[in-house]
Amino acid sequence: MTVPPEVQPTSNGATSMRTDRCGTLRVADVGRTVTVCGWVAKRREHGEHLAFIDVRDYTGIVQCVVPGTIDVRSEYVVAVEGTVRLRPEGTVNPDLPTGEVELGDCTVALLNAAEPPPFPVDDRVDVDEVIRLKHRFVDLRRPTMQANLRLRAKVNGAMRAAMDRQGFVEVETPLLWAPTPEGAREFAVPSRLHHGSCYVLPQSPQLAKQLLMVAGVDRYYQIARCLRDEDLRADRQFEFTQLDIEASFVSQEDILEFVSEAVLDAAEAATGERPGPVPRMTWAEALDRYGTDKPDIRFGMELVDLTEVFAATGFRAFAAPCVKAIVLEGGASSSRSRLDALTDRAKALGAKGLAWFKVVEGGGGGTDVDSPVAKFLSDEEKAGLVATTGAAVGDLVLTVADEYRLTCHVLGALRVELGGRPVSEGPYRYLWVVDFPLFDGVDDAGNPVAAHHPFTMPHPDDIDRLDSDPASVRSQAYDLVLNGWELGSGSVRVHRADIQSRIFTALGISDEEAASRFGFLLGAFRFGAPPHAGFAVGLDRLVAIFAGEDNIREVIAFPKTQSGWDPMTDAPKPLAPAALRDLGLQPIPKLD
Ligand code: AMO
Ligand code: AMP
Repeated sequence: MTVPPEVQPTSNGATSMRTDRCGTLRVADVGRTVTVCGWVAKRREHGEHLAFIDVRDYTGIVQCVVPGTIDVRSEYVVAVEGTVRLRPEGTVNPDLPTGEVELGDCTVALLNAAEPPPFPVDDRVDVDEVIRLKHRFVDLRRPTMQANLRLRAKVNGAMRAAMDRQGFVEVETPLLWAPTPEGAREFAVPSRLHHGSCYVLPQSPQLAKQLLMVAGVDRYYQIARCLRDEDLRADRQFEFTQLDIEASFVSQEDILEFVSEAVLDAAEAATGERPGPVPRMTWAEALDRYGTDKPDIRFGMELVDLTEVFAATGFRAFAAPCVKAIVLEGGASSSRSRLDALTDRAKALGAKGLAWFKVVEGGGGGTDVDSPVAKFLSDEEKAGLVATTGAAVGDLVLTVADEYRLTCHVLGALRVELGGRPVSEGPYRYLWVVDFPLFDGVDDAGNPVAAHHPFTMPHPDDIDRLDSDPASVRSQAYDLVLNGWELGSGSVRVHRADIQSRIFTALGISDEEAASRFGFLLGAFRFGAPPHAGFAVGLDRLVAIFAGEDNIREVIAFPKTQSGWDPMTDAPKPLAPAALRDLGLQPIPKLD
């Protein structure tokens, strides 16, 4: 919309239709004749001679007093002209920023009528998720959602500014693209011009940004849309946004510095406080102490190693490569049914069982343990369990014995389930997790699987073991963690053909397969690939945490439900026969 030159928008939001925004009027404005525009939040009649309407825009609500009656209903769109005046004694509303004033002698212009809203535009009203998403345009009028969208824009802006300042250039990369080897299932877009062939929507701009390094861009960033066809959860949507970066002639240290700068700037813009330097932990330490690669370091309850204590045990269940425990303070009062539930949970997580020990008063002022398996343990073992865990009388010790990784995983998950808090609850505790392994587990064919992606550089100290003992090779990959959520991830990339080919060999990827899947990247690397490294921050997750939300849907304008459905547009929908024909497609019944 073009604005007439005599009424340019100003910082108070003035346009050709209004002089002010609703929520900004204060005592200092008393005496001014103003026009506000917005939606009718509430209407009250006082007899035939006076009507009150509350008008809302994103800045808030102002009360307008209209002589006579007026025919407007909730969510009608109006322009109201009136004079700002003090509210009469006793009618001041301390809950409203505009609560000391009102607009008097108003004239109301009806800009548009509205059907009754499907739910009140009010943060205090709990509305079903599907109803909210079906009418997202109404849902977004709610103050919290407005604040979330604006917070997101602010975080975005702060990140852009930080990247610009650090000499990064924003480059847009294609959405219609080829597969990216990053592990998630991909969305395909059938081609009209090439029947039977598809573009693939990018899981991330990973390969494009590496090509930009070969192209001499030096420092790239993008607020990038990424698409992954994976199961949706609180921290996952099909479509999400990354602050994606890549830089040449850098080491891991440089990248951590660039990213810290952007994230800490964003935190400062969002919360008003700049977090201190981000601590670091190796992946191995994170697993050992917290049982996960994304430790929530807001609370203790660390895993305690008991392998030594039970090294010579006669208890069959504890004769395992690793025995670890967590201590639930005050947990000794847990009921039998709760303990059974915990055991079932541990089994669901993959453990063979869960041995629990209530720490109780022992003879002579000491401690003892109360447990169905206590009878299988020696006195030294029981004393060792209490001493090593540091558990006190009234605490509950939960113990798992198994392979190292599995033991850590089960107790790490129980730790969060028993001791954790919602992700968005302060304080914000950032953590760099570094030195990830290069490979993580094996695929169905028994080949190692890339922990990050196949273009990640091995740790220089471990490169010699690439062929002999790949499982022990660390990588130059790193994650940023916040309150137990993985906020971002990155790595130093392989830029040398000889190392890349050894990694492909370890992954069981043949030369032919590598050439067919990422030949264009490998080909480009032959034309002078600089050493390079990068990172991607999950923007939705970061904004959700700053917004105090535990689900990223709350900071995305038009998200999907858990089943990947958009109740507003009803997408995904079957294509019309003509569109199918154009694309050369023929639906077949779903095969289960
Ligand atoms: P990665 O796959 O770890 O790395 O993704 C980086 C970050 O993106 C966010 N994220 C998501 N957010 C919402 N919904 C999703 N489905 C989703 N999937 C990922 C997370 C995650 O940490 N190309 C590499 C980065 C690099 O190496 O430079 C990559 O995409 O916060
Ligand atoms: P079982 O000998 O299998 O009957 O187990 C005896 C007790 O030890 C039960 O309470 C099990 O839950 C527990 N238990 C069994 N295996 C393990 C294990 N690997 N780690 C921890 N506790 C276990």
